[in-house]
Amino acid sequence: MSVTIKSNHEIELMREAGRILAIVHDEIEKNIRPGITTYEIDKIGYDVIKSYDCIPSFLDYHGYPASICVSVNDEVVHGIPSKNRIIREGDIVSVDAGVIYKGYHSDAARTHAVGEITPEARRLIDATKQSFFEGIKFAKAGNHLHDISAAIEDYVVAQGYTVVRDLVGHGIGRALHEEPEIPNFRVRRKGIKLVPGMTLAIEPMVNVGRPDVAWLDDEWTVVTHDGSLSAHYENTVLITDGEPEILSYHK
Ligand code: MF3
Ligand code: CO
Repeated sequence: MSVTIKSNHEIELMREAGRILAIVHDEIEKNIRPGITTYEIDKIGYDVIKSYDCIPSFLDYHGYPASICVSVNDEVVHGIPSKNRIIREGDIVSVDAGVIYKGYHSDAARTHAVGEITPEARRLIDATKQSFFEGIKFAKAGNHLHDISAAIEDYVVAQGYTVVRDLVGHGIGRALHEEPEIPNFRVRRKGIKLVPGMTLAIEPMVNVGRPDVAWLDDEWTVVTHDGSLSAHYENTVLITDGEPEILSYHK
């Protein structure tokens, strides 16, 4: 399948998917505190998604066993919720969620601080979020896809951090993962030309230490190879005639 351009009607549905997904994230953010388990975070997400008659897109995706990915500290992405995993003061918790509304997907991730965290962890979370916003400054019709990629990496490197290279962002629409792949780092080619109606899930994953990652024996959880902290920030973004529209975001 190639890159899809969404019609106005499809964009309306993706706006609604994104609006609901932002509510899912708000509800999880309100409830994250020391003592909560990652299982309970998943349950909150599942319940909100269902309450809007949406489908949790991650559940059973290639066998993934939950609705939300919850990745703590050195876990980068795809942490599997568990009743045995208790969130503690000082943790940083990356929450990734996806919903399907009337056949259309939205995908977004946030990294939260739990209580008092170290200044370094705070700076990592803020830099990761900002790298997304630096990237989408280039998410405009006529630019090339990898302009976004380069802007993300340049910002992250300037902050003294590294970008994960083994996982990338993606097009999104009727499927969770559509073309194109969206690297969060410079690549040799300039990538496709951006056109209004493209919808992209842009999702920098940023490490304090080395960029290398490893997979745990559960075959899902991605961790930093060196054990350093990692953060993740993602939104579903619409390319327009002017400024990009962030579909999975409010405030
Ligand atoms: N948000 C993730 C991504 O963009 C999807 C999680 S994978 C799943 O690739 F298995 F958990 F669904
Ligand atoms: Co994604």
